[in-house]
Amino acid sequence: MSLLKGTKVTWLGHATVLVETAAGLTLLIDPFLQHNPSYPKDYVLPEKIDYVLLTHGHMDHTADAVPVAQKHGATIVGIYELTSYLTGKGAEKTIGMNLGGTVALPGVDVTMVEAKHTSSIQEGDQIVYLGEAAGLVLTIADGPVVYHAGDTAVFSDMKLIQALYKPELAILPIGGHFTMGPREAVLAVEYLQPKQILPVHWGTFPPLKGTPEQLASLLPDGSIVARVKPGQSL
Ligand code: NI
Ligand code: MN
Repeated sequence: MSLLKGTKVTWLGHATVLVETAAGLTLLIDPFLQHNPSYPKDYVLPEKIDYVLLTHGHMDHTADAVPVAQKHGATIVGIYELTSYLTGKGAEKTIGMNLGGTVALPGVDVTMVEAKHTSSIQEGDQIVYLGEAAGLVLTIADGPVVYHAGDTAVFSDMKLIQALYKPELAILPIGGHFTMGPREAVLAVEYLQPKQILPVHWGTFPPLKGTPEQLASLLPDGSIVARVKPGQSL
């Protein structure tokens, strides 16, 4: 797909997305593998993963972050409270950042942007809060601008993300219940003006009822909604 200029974006079910740039950098966003009902079980991750990027602390986004980082040699990038917490859980290489900031990785600028959601992890019967939930904008050199919204409600400051970064591919949660659903995602698309949408965080569990078909039917041009199965690439 020419829109992505040689960058490969692979949906691995739920909010887990693998980004492989034309220059060879490999980034895995929100790894939820072992207990993810929609993870393609026969999928083989690349041997080397350079960075694991995290939007927030919930288990369905971070469950496999530390094991994957250890096995594949990755550095974990996330909001400061979350990376500090994961350091305590055995993460060896981390980059903590915060909202509005950009971290320059080799050939990819990662900007942390707002999301409207919570961020915590359950330890026994205790909830540990881990800073704010975030979205991530990947500005890939000689490649596309990719926005992974994380888990979020729609919010009007998505207009700022469009004004500042002009994402070409928007990876949006559409399942509802814990995030926005298709009705709200229509407004997100209006604010963000992406050329393509990868719908995520739908169909994994029964409450996540929103579908790409619903979103496409509500948009002026439904053809911008990518239809891929877990394990397939854009
Ligand atoms: Ni969440
Ligand atoms: Mn989630």
